[in-house]
Amino acid sequence: MQLLKLVATAIAFIAGVEAAANFFPVDAVGDIAAVRDDLGKGATHIYYQARNGSIVRLYTSTAFVQNGPQDRGSHTEVVPANEVMYGTPITAATLWTPAGDFNGNHVYYYSRDGILSEYINNIQAHGPSCTQCITNQRFGVVNGSVALYAFADNKTPGMLLRVGFESAGSPGTITEATFNNNTQKWSLSVLPN
Ligand SMILES: *[C@@H]1O[C@H](CO)[C@@H](O)[C@H](O)[C@H]1NC(C)=O
Ligand SMILES: *[C@@H]1O[C@H](CO)[C@@H](O)[C@H](O)[C@H]1NC(C)=O
Ligand SMILES: *[C@@H]1O[C@H](CO)[C@@H](O)[C@H](O)[C@H]1NC(C)=O
Repeated sequence: MQLLKLVATAIAFIAGVEAAANFFPVDAVGDIAAVRDDLGKGATHIYYQARNGSIVRLYTSTAFVQNGPQDRGSHTEVVPANEVMYGTPITAATLWTPAGDFNGNHVYYYSRDGILSEYINNIQAHGPSCTQCITNQRFGVVNGSVALYAFADNKTPGMLLRVGFESAGSPGTITEATFNNNTQKWSLSVLPN
């Protein structure tokens, strides 16, 4: 009886997979970070590292369940493989203006030489040429660490972005890089005891 149940479940599962005949292929090698913007009904930006090493941005105009058009035309490479560590963690934060309007995504990952790096979606900027990106601060990551988080903070005066990682300068704990919107500068703080 138990076995029959298992077999029935397995068949149902396979049938469920086969039923999804119309799907968009995605070959992500690690983390997938997703953020919602305020356009449409559940418009979603999805970022992941593709098998060829580049970071890809996928855009859907609704949640998958909502059957609206999934804008596959926006399946684009946003950071080339030579700027991305293979197997990098990926995280993303959404910014909002003080008026509450969507103000773009900031995506964080590691470069091949272990530098905390940033892609800014609304200006499509990344790599060493992006003067605004955290990449230019050359904050080094502990070799082998895949710890990474990021979020926007527009409730704390002056604060805008907080990015947590394991800094080569302070291994064995979390360091936050914070972007101060008044000074437009990044700085580092280690988790206090
Ligand atoms: C890497 O793969 C992604 C996802 O399939 C694709 O969009 C991108 O064009 C590829 N990059 C190169 C340089 O071929
Ligand atoms: C990181 O560690 C790997 C494996 O131990 C080693 O091959 C590599 O040279 C190290 N990289 C750096 C930048 O120290
Ligand atoms: C950040 O600072 C800029 C320039 O001073 C300002 O226009 C913007 O509204 C600020 N953003 C937030 C979220 O406070």
